[in-house]
Formats: sequence, structure tokens, C-alpha cells
Amino acid sequence: MTPDALSALHHSAFTTPRPWSAAEVAALLSGTGVFWHGDANGFVMGRSVAGEAEILTLAVAPNQRRKGLARTLMQQFEAHACETGADTAFLEVAENNAAAAALYLSLGYAQVGRRRGYFETPQGHHIDALVMSKLLHPGI
Ligand SMILES: CC(C)(COP(=O)(O)OP(=O)(O)OC[C@H]1O[C@@H](n2cnc3c(N)ncnc32)[C@H](O)[C@@H]1OP(=O)(O)O)[C@@H](O)C(=O)NCCC(=O)NCCS
Repeated sequence: MTPDALSALHHSAFTTPRPWSAAEVAALLSGTGVFWHGDANGFVMGRSVAGEAEILTLAVAPNQRRKGLARTLMQQFEAHACETGADTAFLEVAENNAAAAALYLSLGYAQVGRRRGYFETPQGHHIDALVMSKLLHPGI
């Protein structure tokens, strides 16, 4: 998929955090350790550097949700992270994002911190981010 297509999918999934432009997607993809998995229905983008992996974004098209796609994408993210030497995964999720938080909890992520006012809504409201983490075990 091109940065344009990934950006379009990101726009279909997000208002907060602000959706990424194609140029922003392309810039991220050129960064050290950045990778993505998925297709036109959904994608995950991550970064694996120095033994730690971070989920940069996870987006499933609205008409493709609750079919297990995000769970599959997260498994692909974790497998890639392990292959590149990461033993820990981190992510930030808006505290009002119940769907994503339920997904991450079901996959074994636990809250390890909070960033106050980290996300800004289109209306200019600030929402805390929950920092979640999981130890990765290759082959599991
Ligand atoms: C969060 C998101 C990625 C989930 O994608 P999905 O493909 O629908 O998720 P899955 O079908 O793989 O669901 C896996 C589990 O996550 C949880 N979950 C997913 N959507 C949920 C919802 N709307 N409400 C409650 N739990 C939910 C459930 O535990 C679910 O398991 P179950 O279906 O067996 O109950 C999707 O809703 C999305 O793209 N949201 C907008 C973007 C976003 O918030 N991304 C994450 C940013 S941190």
C-alpha cells in the first residue's frame, strides 16, 4: 500500500489523534526501525529499536471491525518486534478509547503510566493517554 492509501485508511479510523497525511506517513516509514503490516481493511505501524517496540498506530476500517482483524495485526506486530530483537512493547491509547483499551488488555498489555492531556480532540479538548506495555516472548 502507498502512503496515500495508508493515510486514507488512517483518516477513516481516527479523529483523535489527528489523522496523518500521506507525507507524514511517508516520513514515518522512512524512520529507523519502522515497519507496518496490513491491507486495505486495516494496518498496524510500529517501530522496533534497541530492544523496545512501539505501536505507532493501529487502524481498522469502520466497516471491517469486530472481525478479529486488529487482533491479527497485533500478533503480526509482536512477531515482527520479536524478530527484530524487541523484548518489550509499548503503546499509548486515549483513556476514552474503550475499544482499543479492551483489545490491548485482552492481549496482555497492562497500564504502566499516564500522559496527562497528551491527545487533543478536533474541538481542542485534551485527553490523557494511558501508556501500556507488555513483555514479549518469542514463539508465543
Ligand atoms: C480499536 C480497533 C483497532 C479494533 O479493531 P477490530 O478489528 O474491530 O478489533 P478486533 O475485532 O480484532 O477485536 C479484538 C478484541 O478487541 C476488543 N474490542 C474491539 N472493538 C471493541 C469495541 N468496540 N468495544 C469493546 N471491545 C472491543 C474486544 O475484546 C475484541 O474481542 P472480541 O471481538 O472477541 O470481543 C478499531 O476499533 C479501530 O480502528 N478504532 C479506531 C482507531 C483506534 O482507536 N486505534 C487504536 C489506537 S490506540
